[in-house]
Amino acid sequence: MDIFQQNYKQKLEETMIGYVQAKEMPSTIKEAMVYSLQAGGKRIRPVLLLAVIEGFKKDPKLGLKTAAALEMIHTYSLIHDDLPSMDDDDLRRGKPTNHKVFGEAMAILAGDGLLTHSFGLIAEDPLITSDQKVKLIGLLARFAGPEGMVGGQVADIEGENKKLSVEELETIHVHKTGKLLIFSVLAGAVIAGADEEEQTMLERFAYHIGLAFQIQDDILDIEGTEELIGKRIGSDESKQKSTYPGLLTIDGAKKKLQFHFDEALDSLNGLDMDTGLLKQISHLIVNRNH
Ligand code: IPE
Ligand code: IPE
Ligand code: MG
Ligand code: MG
Ligand code: MG
Repeated sequence: MDIFQQNYKQKLEETMIGYVQAKEMPSTIKEAMVYSLQAGGKRIRPVLLLAVIEGFKKDPKLGLKTAAALEMIHTYSLIHDDLPSMDDDDLRRGKPTNHKVFGEAMAILAGDGLLTHSFGLIAEDPLITSDQKVKLIGLLARFAGPEGMVGGQVADIEGENKKLSVEELETIHVHKTGKLLIFSVLAGAVIAGADEEEQTMLERFAYHIGLAFQIQDDILDIEGTEELIGKRIGSDESKQKSTYPGLLTIDGAKKKLQFHFDEALDSLNGLDMDTGLLKQISHLIVNRNH
């Protein structure tokens, strides 16, 4: 896993940054986009996408551009998530947030630029078919947009200062974080040519792994260290966010995390593919300290 991740992390960064560098645009926005793309990050979504392709014994390189597009969307979502009008955070990936360096207007535009570029990247991919591109662009719009991640961010903001039920919180987490993880596995499946049944099983896997991922994010906001997570601790508390530890206590949140991890691994059982990497990524997600 480590070798797989390291190898593709570098290729992924070259793909994202190479794409932005090659395009003509005002230097300020280029600098702002590259700043956040280069700031590091675990690259868990692209790695998941490429691991699905590898699991079906196809060449992960076929998914590099789509993986880069996905990471660009994720990076844009973080730039906007940190804005003063959203979570108002000043540290991300161990560096000052985009708006702290480039100002709010430029951070909004850098996010807009990354979002728009992500669709361009898929459209310009010479390694996949036109049918695959149309399918991927449609899925990305659905899972990243207001029906997906953006909708989750809306519900997250509207849930501030409120005591939500666990069901309501689960809906927020599934949307703001889960949907992009579901896109990761579905995109890998589309590129690898997986059938509908396989896609459904992978979607169930990603649903649970997405929830586990955000529950751990909530836990790390309390129990993590700033050096490791590269974000300020206690951000959720200060914004009166609804979180799993907030609703269920830390122990309750850890039990939920374990439940979704078990369900995720169970979803992989019926799949006729090599699920080794996906299992390793699942372990990484629940045991992560950053
Ligand atoms: C942070 O995502 C935001 C969430 C959806 C929890 P990551 O934890 O994947 O952030 P990076 O990409 O590693 O910085
Ligand atoms: C963010 O959730 C999910 C996104 C879509 C960006 P959080 O607000 O909890 O993410 P962090 O903790 O700031 O990374
Ligand atoms: Mg947020
Ligand atoms: Mg945040
Ligand atoms: Mg968080």
